[in-house]
Amino acid sequence: TQLDRIRNFSIVAHIDHGKSTLADRLIQLTGTVAERDMKAQMLDSMDIERERGITIKANTVRIEYPAKDGHTYVLNLIDTPGHVDFAYEVSRSMRAVEGSLLVVDASQGVEAQTLANVYQAIDANHDIVPVLNKIDLPAAEPDRVKAQIEDVIGIDASEAIPISAKSGLGIPDVLEAIVHRLPAPKGDRDAPLKAMLVDSWYDPYLGVVVMIRVMDGVIRKNDRIKMMQTGAVYGIDRLAVLKPAMVDIAELGPGEIGVFTASIKQVRDTRVGDTITTEKKGTDKPLPGFKPAQPVVFCGLFPVDANDFEDLRDAIEKLALNDASFSFEMETSAALGFGFRCGFLGLLHLEVIRDRLEREYDMDLITTAPSVVFKLHMKDGEVRDLHNPADMPDLTYVDHIQEPRIKATIMVPDEYLGDILKLCQDRRGIQLDLSYAGSRAMVVYDLPLAEVVFDFYDRLKSVTKGYASFDYQISEYREDSLVKMSILVNDEPVDALAMMVHRDRAEARGRVMCEKLKELIPRHMFKIPVQAAIGGRVIARETISAMRKDVTAKCYGGDATRKRKLLDKQKAGKKKMRQFGKVEIPQEAFISALKMD
Ligand code: GTP
Repeated sequence: TQLDRIRNFSIVAHIDHGKSTLADRLIQLTGTVAERDMKAQMLDSMDIERERGITIKANTVRIEYPAKDGHTYVLNLIDTPGHVDFAYEVSRSMRAVEGSLLVVDASQGVEAQTLANVYQAIDANHDIVPVLNKIDLPAAEPDRVKAQIEDVIGIDASEAIPISAKSGLGIPDVLEAIVHRLPAPKGDRDAPLKAMLVDSWYDPYLGVVVMIRVMDGVIRKNDRIKMMQTGAVYGIDRLAVLKPAMVDIAELGPGEIGVFTASIKQVRDTRVGDTITTEKKGTDKPLPGFKPAQPVVFCGLFPVDANDFEDLRDAIEKLALNDASFSFEMETSAALGFGFRCGFLGLLHLEVIRDRLEREYDMDLITTAPSVVFKLHMKDGEVRDLHNPADMPDLTYVDHIQEPRIKATIMVPDEYLGDILKLCQDRRGIQLDLSYAGSRAMVVYDLPLAEVVFDFYDRLKSVTKGYASFDYQISEYREDSLVKMSILVNDEPVDALAMMVHRDRAEARGRVMCEKLKELIPRHMFKIPVQAAIGGRVIARETISAMRKDVTAKCYGGDATRKRKLLDKQKAGKKKMRQFGKVEIPQEAFISALKMD
């Protein structure tokens, strides 16, 4: 395809502002997918995505559009995920295209993720076409939102396109704008091949599928290609474009986006951001690479039934084939036995993986509290990453500890501002900025990631009845006085409950933990002390008093079936418990004990 007949773009938006619906309409109006094959949200391919209505993996579709100027254009849409955890996927897909549609819900206005995503588009030098969606809603205020886009984002919104992705109103204008307001890609067909590896995934039938954007040169079926970072050489088996199903194609030239397969075994063998060239007469100048995504949140995953360990390993290995951003290594816990320490891009990512393990692989899991990566500066000068509070070495060897801090942007209606400031203050936040966009306040906070990974997002949503929006970026590692707090149940430390806390908050946190555990751990035949300790010093304690464990005592009379039922129920309850020394701790204790209300 000629360069000036190609347009590559992405859609940036806050969650729920209608990105997927708009993509569906573009696909539908251009007849890319036959009407009978249309299903809602074509681009959200995974079940969990469709169920939760969130886009997790970036996806792509090639659309052929006969424009009003009489030419047919190839439009490549790269769909980007909207959630904070996947900012990295947004940034890499942005580098593969030249323009963006900025979709803003005209009844809501600019939100935190609108900002975060549009800044990424601006960073990638995109031309941006603002689109005001949902103008069918009575609450839509297109003029106010236009003004807001200009004030808050600082781009010209005078020609923003009013649409209803739901009814289809305005979609033809969007297609024309893509052709006339977004730039054509540049590239040299005669230069050596230079293609960017944008994404890769594992397909059970095809193996690893690699998505590329060609910058210079031409890639053809049967070419022998080289991945410049790893030096690995492969023969291309299949070259295709996504419509969104794979359609074979003989070659891809500059500006084009497509996929290939090449008998690559694992997603891990492909590095996103790597430059692909031909084995012979290739380029020696790779594209500026980007850094691989680093997991920032870690937690332990253990099977409820220790016999399921091998099944869990299989399941995790299979999932990892498809998701190179998730890391895992075997872990043994005195309390939980064999399991895995897994690293995720963020909390949602963790939830998605855990969900898939439970649902698709039918695993019963114990998840330990999420933790961030601390940097331990040892007295001998070594710097160590601490992924698991249980591995914290003796303090006498540690000079100081650093933790990751984030820059969080929160947008919230005025009336909830007080609650938000309190929440951030409670989580050791430092306010950086406060400004207004109409009746919405925008606050910027510097916060420790450790205080955010657990239930910050839930709390944020609940104190603002869902009206706040939130986005963050990791800013830096900073020293603070952090200590490991251990939890002892019946005088034995439960390693899976250990956590890193700020020294000034340790006592309060310890007290809450002990109180919660007292509620969560059922009574036993003996008294159970529950303690929080720093080093050898106990900072909080509760006692679970003893009881006679006769559950049938409550059933007067001789109703045998009722007794039976009660006993069965008790047995079922037991499956979700783990034995620690002489004490049984229910599974939910590992998460619930850490929620701070
Ligand atoms: P994520 O994929 O989660 O980022 O969300 P999204 O931005 O793709 O939003 P999606 O397209 O899933 O739309 C969110 C909700 O808004 C859905 O319930 C849509 O039906 C609805 N919606 C989208 N466009 C319109 C519109 O033009 N008018 C109205 N009234 N509702 C719309």
